[in-house]
Amino acid sequence: MCGIVAYIGAGQAQPILIEGLKRLEYRGYDSAGLAVLDDAGLRLARSVGRVANLEEKLEKLGGFRGTIGVAHTRWATHGGVSETNAHPHRDDRAGICLVHNGIIENYASLRKYLEERGHRFTSETDTEVLAMLIGELYDGDLEAAVQAALREVTGAYAIVAMCEREPDVLVAARKGSPLMLGIGNGEYVLASDPSAIVAHTTQAIALDDYNVARVSRDGFRTSTVDNIDVTPRVMQLELDLEQIELGDFPHYMLKEIFEQPAALRNTMRGRLDTKEGKVVLGGLNSLAKELVRARKIILTAQGTALHAAMIGEYLLEDLAKIPCECEYASEFRYRNPIIEEGTVVVAVSQSGETADTLAALHEARDRGALALGVVNVVGSTIARDTDAGVYLRVGPEIGVASTKAFVGQVAVLTMISMFMARRRFMSPEASARMIAEMEQVPDKIERVLSLNDEIRRVTERYVERNNWLFLGRGYNYPTALEGALKLKEISYIHAEGMPAAEMKHGPIALIDDGMPVVFIANKGNQYDKVINNIEEVRSRGGHVIAIATEGDEQIREVAQEVIHVPEVADSLSPMVTVVPLQLIAYHAAVLRGHDVDKPRNLAKSVTVE
Ligand code: AGP
Repeated sequence: MCGIVAYIGAGQAQPILIEGLKRLEYRGYDSAGLAVLDDAGLRLARSVGRVANLEEKLEKLGGFRGTIGVAHTRWATHGGVSETNAHPHRDDRAGICLVHNGIIENYASLRKYLEERGHRFTSETDTEVLAMLIGELYDGDLEAAVQAALREVTGAYAIVAMCEREPDVLVAARKGSPLMLGIGNGEYVLASDPSAIVAHTTQAIALDDYNVARVSRDGFRTSTVDNIDVTPRVMQLELDLEQIELGDFPHYMLKEIFEQPAALRNTMRGRLDTKEGKVVLGGLNSLAKELVRARKIILTAQGTALHAAMIGEYLLEDLAKIPCECEYASEFRYRNPIIEEGTVVVAVSQSGETADTLAALHEARDRGALALGVVNVVGSTIARDTDAGVYLRVGPEIGVASTKAFVGQVAVLTMISMFMARRRFMSPEASARMIAEMEQVPDKIERVLSLNDEIRRVTERYVERNNWLFLGRGYNYPTALEGALKLKEISYIHAEGMPAAEMKHGPIALIDDGMPVVFIANKGNQYDKVINNIEEVRSRGGHVIAIATEGDEQIREVAQEVIHVPEVADSLSPMVTVVPLQLIAYHAAVLRGHDVDKPRNLAKSVTVE
């Protein structure tokens, strides 16, 4: 997803902008650019590929000197990957340049209007249209021109603009795409997410939809696109640089897989009252009565978060005995959903900025549902747009492939289920037992991580195969989906996850000699059924990789490969059984020579539809 960084202060802008872009690389992009205002005016450089290519270009140009600038990493939406489509885009008449994240939906009609007024476009982008529109409306006041232009556009945007005639001003605005303003000491940094701000300050403002910020060296003003003053809400960023450094790991994804025990301990810290046998979720206390009386719960998310939400569906029905359904946010938002009295919608999202999940949340909330968030990024849009929520507290997740956030989402959904179950049918004893089990999960994950070399060896034996199946039952059916997604998104190997029983209804035709089929075959309540499914695959030549429970030696008679994980209650097992699947995907990607942390075509947070 596109990344924005902008700076105004006393320091040289170029190095700060480049460092900020590098902090945002994990979001996924295909080109980059920056512009600095120096005494001679706007200096602009753009390049295709990595930020390092932009740095090379700037070196050849002798570097830019100036203390105000904007920068951007582009994830192509309108127009192909090219230097001319890279940001910043400019309007030469007014000497304005602009960086933008989002989609201007009515850009075609605006482009026609501007062409009729003599503007000539050089790119295929919607962003250049917005830059020219601001230029067209510019009459000596950049803030007013940006406000006027944004009143004309429909769609989503996070933008920062600057103008040669106002060298001490940056104007930022946001609708639907995140943008934060970091408040330093006589300097300001605007960025798409906190990881590009925390090196300068931990005081920040998250702009809300329709907010505009006019930032100069000696202060800032926040208003709406209708120029109505807005009182800014300053927040304390909880991120620190150490959390977003790679350390001794070769990739963020591996670091974050190995962080999972510590991350889970953070997620659970202070929330499991072992003495009282209760889950303590301060964020839900004010709504406890409404939640406990809920007549239906709808979980909505995309991608990995959806797989966690699917496990939440099993947990809520199993433990809290509340009817529950899980929906792709992108489908839910458009299918005219029925929201009846007593409905609770739970949006699950690591970034808290996924456009479809946010829209689904709004749709359900606007139809009267109580809105909860299960989110990792503090102060993110989804977190701000819910009635209450529970943060994951797993720390920043930099790798595009979500790992520790998945386990954090499952843990939070487990705690929410227990929070409600204990207030409905779960006995204190059962609750205390489950809490005691849950507290052991991080240690069990650690034991799985110690099998990393063995898991790499297993992966090596099948990494050349181009089609994999992932099969599981019950709580581990969504885990199988997650394993397939992990493999697909970073190794580019085709993989499909499904309920183990479903294989017989068609996909078994895919089984050919040596095809790798991963079974989650822990000693759960459908273990015998899973063994039957394994036999069905074996008898057709498939090679079975079984994720089995420690001590289960019988399974070696039917599976070519066995990866043992510690025994764990079925309802808590996905947090443990997913770890070998994450490592299989990681090793497959490394063995195939792919960029694990920045897989092709992918973005960390999909803030466009
Ligand atoms: C998972 O590995 C992917 N990066 C992707 O499916 C992701 O889970 C999805 O885009 C949802 O993102 P979110 O959790 O930030 O809403």
